[in-house]
Amino acid sequence: VTGTHGALVLGAAQLGQAYGNGPDRNPPSAETVAHLLHQAARLGITEVDTARAYGESEQVVGVAAEDLPGLRIVTKVRPLDPGATRADEVVRAVTGSVAESVRTLRRQVLDTVLLHRTDDLRVADGVAGDVLERLVAQGTARRWGVSIATPDDLLFVLDRPGVHYVQLPFNLLDRRWLAPEVSASLAARPDVRVVVRSALLQGLVASTDTARWPTFPDVDAVRMVGSIGEAVTTLGRADRVDLALAYVLAHPWVDAIVAGVRRVDQLTALAAAVTRPVLTANEITVVHRLVPAGPADLIDPSRWQRPAVRNSHDRDPQGLR
Ligand SMILES: NC(=O)c1ccc[n+]([C@@H]2O[C@H](COP(=O)([O-])OP(=O)(O)OC[C@H]3O[C@@H](n4cnc5c(N)ncnc54)[C@H](OP(=O)(O)O)[C@@H]3O)[C@@H](O)[C@H]2O)c1
Repeated sequence: VTGTHGALVLGAAQLGQAYGNGPDRNPPSAETVAHLLHQAARLGITEVDTARAYGESEQVVGVAAEDLPGLRIVTKVRPLDPGATRADEVVRAVTGSVAESVRTLRRQVLDTVLLHRTDDLRVADGVAGDVLERLVAQGTARRWGVSIATPDDLLFVLDRPGVHYVQLPFNLLDRRWLAPEVSASLAARPDVRVVVRSALLQGLVASTDTARWPTFPDVDAVRMVGSIGEAVTTLGRADRVDLALAYVLAHPWVDAIVAGVRRVDQLTALAAAVTRPVLTANEITVVHRLVPAGPADLIDPSRWQRPAVRNSHDRDPQGLR
């Protein structure tokens, strides 16, 4: 089985704010963003993922995608106050965030609107979902869903029949999603699009640079980087990016990968990788044998310590990375 360019969604978190653990965290220029989006469209990529909470991301995507009406836009509601109890406040917050997105993205109709956190569907008895359902009925968005973090989140959000999209973090170090209830619950909901973020774990899995790795007592970066290289060689894959994407896309419940880029060469490499054969079941087993499972702190970038603050873009008050 080989993938297609449709299996790749362009992640826009790094297009509007400083991002990640690499040596260069700066967002690209407006010209580069325009170039990236047009190149993505030429490569057959039809979806871009942004959020109200990604700094200037919606703004730069809105401008760059103005002459790309075929590029579908997925955005996320600004995270809600976790202590909110009043339904009218939640209704106002969700409605206001989506209205700002529509204006900033310069689109009459958004393809998909996601709640940024599973907890946003818990406050005030889940009224945020009712608001999004109404916006879909009114034609402001084609569908709504939730950006989730854990398999428990998945089971919770799939209980809402109105949910037709989930985004979740999965990669070859993250074995939580291999639990049978994940594939079983998704098999029962073929109407839900599943898009995987963090397939490269913010670039860690793609790089031999151990300086990118966050420091945790139970994480041996040199050993991890070495073991991923060994899996690339053993399975005859082109490189680490190819292995990482072929691993994720080999899971039948995955519809697409949302990957973040800041440069055109990164996009070209990702687009090439998603057209190569995905791993077989035996090859997945080989990965599990060679590459240790990442501990909880490693597979959740919101738990990483960030490099020292360098400029005004360089803050993450809501831990959305
Ligand atoms: N819902 C949420 O809470 C949430 C949270 C995070 C992200 N997201 C979404 O998911 C998208 C992807 O997540 P992510 O960016 O954190 O993880 P990712 O896609 O696993 O990693 C992206 C990073 O990998 C590196 N990279 C990209 N292409 C590469 C290539 N061809 N070769 C080598 N390295 C490459 C880049 O880092 P360098 O440029 O530093 O090398 C890039 O910033 C985001 O853009 C955003 O849209 C959502």
